[in-house]
Amino acid sequence: MPYKNNILLDTLAGKKTNRYPVWVMRQAGRVLKEYREVRALAGSFINLVTTPELAAEVTIQPVDLLGVDAAIIFSDILVVPEAMGFPYKMEEEKGPVFSKTIAGASDIHLLENADVEDRLAYVLEAIKLTKKGLENRVPLIGFAGAPLTIFAYLTEGKGSKTFSATRKFLYVNPAEAHMALQKITDTTIAYLKAQVRAGADIVQLFDSWAGIFEPEQYKTFGEIYINQITKAITEVPVTVFAKGAWWSIERFAQTGCTTIGIDWNITMADARQKAGNTKVLQGNLDPCVLYGTIPDIQQASNKMLQGFAGNRHIANLGHGVYPDTDPQKLRCFIDTVKEFNLN
Ligand code: CP3
Repeated sequence: MPYKNNILLDTLAGKKTNRYPVWVMRQAGRVLKEYREVRALAGSFINLVTTPELAAEVTIQPVDLLGVDAAIIFSDILVVPEAMGFPYKMEEEKGPVFSKTIAGASDIHLLENADVEDRLAYVLEAIKLTKKGLENRVPLIGFAGAPLTIFAYLTEGKGSKTFSATRKFLYVNPAEAHMALQKITDTTIAYLKAQVRAGADIVQLFDSWAGIFEPEQYKTFGEIYINQITKAITEVPVTVFAKGAWWSIERFAQTGCTTIGIDWNITMADARQKAGNTKVLQGNLDPCVLYGTIPDIQQASNKMLQGFAGNRHIANLGHGVYPDTDPQKLRCFIDTVKEFNLN
């Protein structure tokens, strides 16, 4: 059934629209004071993620307050490793920290095959509540981390500038790395399918650390698992966002995804040339543009929109919005996209 605002699904279906659709990665949370109020009520990030009523509330906030063309379910990519037996804490200023890690080949067996309907029931419930609360206004995006980014957190145990423990693991224990990546892939496919059954209209894979790998290594340990997932998810359009991996765009364009996410390391014109015309491209304004003045934001956004050259595009930032961004500036980006007429 079409939504009251169906522009995102129309673009994905290849229909002509009178403007580009727009949403923002990390729109749920972070920049809105209304989000911080609900988070304070929840007591912690993890309580918020695991309380479906509150997760649904912060998912819907940006639709009301920012006017975006889609909601994205409020959750985290780290709920999957948690469900597979690796719990984490979210520490203020530091980010996620895992209490145990995959330090060597002998730790691979610690990764459990999770029953996602059970272990991740709270996300599926949040999706169902969000769908009710949205009252058919806009579609809902579900998501998961790509297997290599999840493996990177499991081997490092936290964020890292170099992810050298992860890269070392891939060189030293390639067979065990593949075993772990296959397990994560199988769970991710089951999880995304469950999200779709609960009501997700689109799903996005976040490969946030793709860009730290050597291209051949990324092809072997990153792309092949993403390709398994895009092949398996036939129910809804899939977006692949492999941050920093512009060298993979040509190959992703040959796979089952509908949309390829693009960051600001490559111009849209170059990305389009690599992708060809069969895929939708999503992105790619540098989130730091939003620290500028309103006229500067309008100018940079319009330049990006002109660069789309009338092809199939979803306007977005090139990565998640930064937490200290002024919501008015974010709104300016969204409004500028909505005012850019394609007729
Ligand atoms: O996009 C959305 O608005 C939906 C919600 C969402 C969150 N995390 C909520 C969140 C999504 C899609 C994610 C994905 C995610 N989580 C990624 C991939 C996207 C990306 O940015 O590359 C990654 C790498 C993570 C892991 C993670 N979660 C980190 C490193 C951190 C700490 C630093 C940070 O980014 O804020 C988180 C915490 C987190 N996840 C917050 C939110 C709103 C902030 C926590 C808080 O409220 O204190």
